[in-house]
Amino acid sequence: MIIKPMIRNNICLNAHPEGCREEVRLQAARAKTFRKRLASSDINGSAPKPNNALIIGCSTGYGLASRLVAAFGYGAKTIGFSYEKEPSATKPATPGWYANKEFDRLATENNLFAASFSQIDAFSHAAKQKAIEIALENNFKYDLVIYSLASSVRVDPDTGVLYRSVIKPIGRQYAGRTIDVFTEKFSEATIQPATEEEIANTVKVMGGEDWKLWIDALQNEGLLAPEAITLAYSYIGPPFSWPIYRDGTIGQAKLHLEKTANLLEKDYGKENGLRAFVSINKAVVTRASAVIPIIPLYISTLFKVMKERNIHEDCLDQMMRLFSERLYQKIGIAIPTDDEGRIRIDDLEMGPSVQNEVSSRLARIDESNLHELADLAGFRSDFLRAHGFDVPGVDYEREILSLE
Ligand SMILES: NC(=O)c1ccc[n+]([C@@H]2O[C@H](COP(=O)([O-])OP(=O)(O)OC[C@H]3O[C@@H](n4cnc5c(N)ncnc54)[C@H](O)[C@@H]3O)[C@@H](O)[C@H]2O)c1
Repeated sequence: MIIKPMIRNNICLNAHPEGCREEVRLQAARAKTFRKRLASSDINGSAPKPNNALIIGCSTGYGLASRLVAAFGYGAKTIGFSYEKEPSATKPATPGWYANKEFDRLATENNLFAASFSQIDAFSHAAKQKAIEIALENNFKYDLVIYSLASSVRVDPDTGVLYRSVIKPIGRQYAGRTIDVFTEKFSEATIQPATEEEIANTVKVMGGEDWKLWIDALQNEGLLAPEAITLAYSYIGPPFSWPIYRDGTIGQAKLHLEKTANLLEKDYGKENGLRAFVSINKAVVTRASAVIPIIPLYISTLFKVMKERNIHEDCLDQMMRLFSERLYQKIGIAIPTDDEGRIRIDDLEMGPSVQNEVSSRLARIDESNLHELADLAGFRSDFLRAHGFDVPGVDYEREILSLE
């Protein structure tokens, strides 16, 4: 069979198996080049590094990029959890399913320990138990735990109740211009404010409750290495997006992550030196970010401006910088944070000159000057690549004989 992308409203409904595998190979090769660069700059071998990394949400986006950098950049053992659909006889799997398999294959080829789980719900107790079993069986403790889940639902592991997260403003209706990146048609998105229940449910799904359950479970078994680092990812973005993002339901969940980071350090920092942070990352195109209204138009404009200034970064660039310039600089150097204790790797995106240029363009953008002011093609390409399409070197006319 030949597989072409099936896209509706900025959502891609299928994936290309070989394209997903090739994308992981390309990114792993970049992470290996990064490793060489690290080795040549760290002549005394004095920089700290991750040894045993647990990545929760490992199969796509920021989680996959973190895992690639930990493994192929630093040689760490990596254990990854994700929730992906396997293929059927006629339908490809979801992209992360292929990514995990290819990651494991590449890890074996490079003599790296890797264990990937594509179908264990990370919110369940069973997932935590699995991570514990693997560490005990292989006699290691986790020194890096990355929480990179993006999910619209969570089943509470104790009550069995299912909660849904929503992306809605709080207090008043939100109206903003958005774009369908494939048809290039503008439209007005109007979203009604969230109810109190929707806000609470979004915090329940995307806040820090489950992150804390993971860290509690590992700590109770004595499986956190001394001075282990744990991170959860977040986004702040420009003020005009705050009504729908930072000040909306998802922002409440992200605030809860920040409070959880403080709580984790308070609970375990003294005991074994645990360091817990929220890392504020840059806006990139992932399966999660494409569905937030106004964000595709903002990201396309941001990409154009950052590419013009040669400071554009994708997930992997961000994670290479996060690891080498924030988490693992030199022994004895504290991890740099902002006044709120958050790691900022969104610094290039949020620089005043970039932000001023992006907002000036957004104020005048329309269908006539779209390509001059924004990088729609770049957005589309990243979006397609996240699903295995548009990956350089893949022959998309070639018959696919197996969806495995
Ligand atoms: N995309 C951006 O622009 C951006 C920017 C800054 C921060 N972030 C944050 O980074 C984090 C990751 O987002 P992303 O954009 O990389 O998303 P993504 O959709 O690419 O990845 C989400 C991951 O979560 C996994 N997952 C979802 N539900 C799961 C479950 N029940 N059990 C196990 N695994 C599950 C998926 O399998 C996947 O591996 C989020 O917290 C997001 O807010 C994203």
